Amino acid sequence: MTRINMFSLIGCLLYLLHFAYATLIMNEIVGPDSVESGSTDELILDCDFEANGEEDVVLKWFYNGMEDQIYQWIALNKNAYAMGSLKDLIDPTYKVSDDPNSMMRALRFKDVDSALSGNYTCKVDTADEVKWLTKQVIVYSPATSFQIFLFGVEDQFQGDEVVLCEATNISPRPDFSLHVSGSNGSLDDLELFNPIREEIPNEDDSYNVSIRISFNSSYLEPGTTKFSCLLSIPGTNYSDTRSMEHFVDYEEEPSPFELLNEEYASFNYPSNFTEESPSEDIENGSNRIASVVLLGCTLMFSLLLTM
Ligand SMILES: *[C@@H]1O[C@H](CO)[C@@H](O)[C@H](O)[C@H]1NC(C)=O
Ligand SMILES: *[C@@H]1O[C@H](CO)[C@@H](O)[C@H](O)[C@H]1NC(C)=O
Ligand SMILES: *[C@@H]1O[C@H](CO)[C@@H](O)[C@H](O)[C@H]1NC(C)=O
Ligand SMILES: *[C@@H]1O[C@H](CO)[C@@H](O)[C@H](O)[C@H]1NC(C)=O
Ligand SMILES: *[C@@H]1O[C@H](CO)[C@@H](O)[C@H](O)[C@H]1NC(C)=O
Ligand SMILES: *[C@@H]1O[C@H](CO)[C@@H](O)[C@H](O)[C@H]1NC(C)=O
Ligand SMILES: *[C@@H]1O[C@H](CO)[C@@H](O)[C@H](O)[C@H]1NC(C)=O
Repeated sequence: MTRINMFSLIGCLLYLLHFAYATLIMNEIVGPDSVESGSTDELILDCDFEANGEEDVVLKWFYNGMEDQIYQWIALNKNAYAMGSLKDLIDPTYKVSDDPNSMMRALRFKDVDSALSGNYTCKVDTADEVKWLTKQVIVYSPATSFQIFLFGVEDQFQGDEVVLCEATNISPRPDFSLHVSGSNGSLDDLELFNPIREEIPNEDDSYNVSIRISFNSSYLEPGTTKFSCLLSIPGTNYSDTRSMEHFVDYEEEPSPFELLNEEYASFNYPSNFTEESPSEDIENGSNRIASVVLLGCTLMFSLLLTM
């Protein structure tokens, strides 16, 4: 017998066995992986299963493990029952279809808020089988505010510059990070800046998060440094960023021209989302020319001395 024939024979046997015994098939729990709190007025999780020729079908839903049963439907009955910790949020009269074999199998929540985040298990018992499926659902709330601030770049003293990112009232716990990239590329290791991270839980299970770094502008690469904060919630498509740019001049010391400009620069403290920091405007053709002229003079002066 060829190898192919053997495989088809085994395949055939498995196929027949499947029909002889496995008449309960759990397809999937149909519903969203994640949903924004308040964005919709109902959440439906449909336990899609097939129980061909099975008797005594009982469907149960559980929340976060198998201890907290929240729903039960005996397929011979017209009625289903909500129970457990989410009892008041479930609509036990919801019909997902008109088919008496499946109509009450779905969970419908009447309100969609973060209390519904969790793992939902749909378990089906029949006279001779028990099978179940689990699905995680994340109900999230975007940050009510998300900002990046750059402090201390307008004053002429370098060394007390600060970047602060903060996001408030976000749930569940987000991923929050700050990235610094200089004119030569990414300044990969944020830890060099000794970041101070804070994560404060609110009473409603949301979080206020912040990251702060202090730095000395004169230690940055000359050119434009970009600070970007990335906010996301794992398991959802939610993500958001805020960024600011900070320009560091090519000269070591502030030129007299820059100092002059400081007097005009209004101290809007903290600066907000405007992407260009005012110091960027100072870098200007005339500034460059000034330093070239200065360099030229110095060279000529040393030439004169050596003659
Ligand atoms: C839900 O399931 C995921 C993945 O299996 C697990 O990481 C998480 O802790 C569970 N959440 C709860 C609330 O049980
Ligand atoms: C920042 O760097 C400048 C130039 O190197 C230096 O003069 C200044 O003292 C530094 N400031 C702090 C707070 O370290
Ligand atoms: C960044 O670029 C400047 C100018 O091209 C160069 O002088 C400097 O050495 C570079 N710094 C690093 C860390 O590569
Ligand atoms: C989180 O931020 C909000 C909005 O700024 C504020 O009302 C709330 O008091 C903060 N929560 C905590 C625990 O600090
Ligand atoms: C993210 O968005 C895609 C496309 O809209 C969608 O298919 C996917 O289910 C979403 N993921 C989550 C976790 O919501
Ligand atoms: C942000 O800056 C702009 C222009 O500098 C100003 O008009 C605006 O009021 C500022 N917004 C906040 C929230 O400070
Ligand atoms: C550069 O500086 C000159 C002289 O102060 C000014 O007139 C000009 O508007 C500046 N240019 C830019 C692009 O800021």
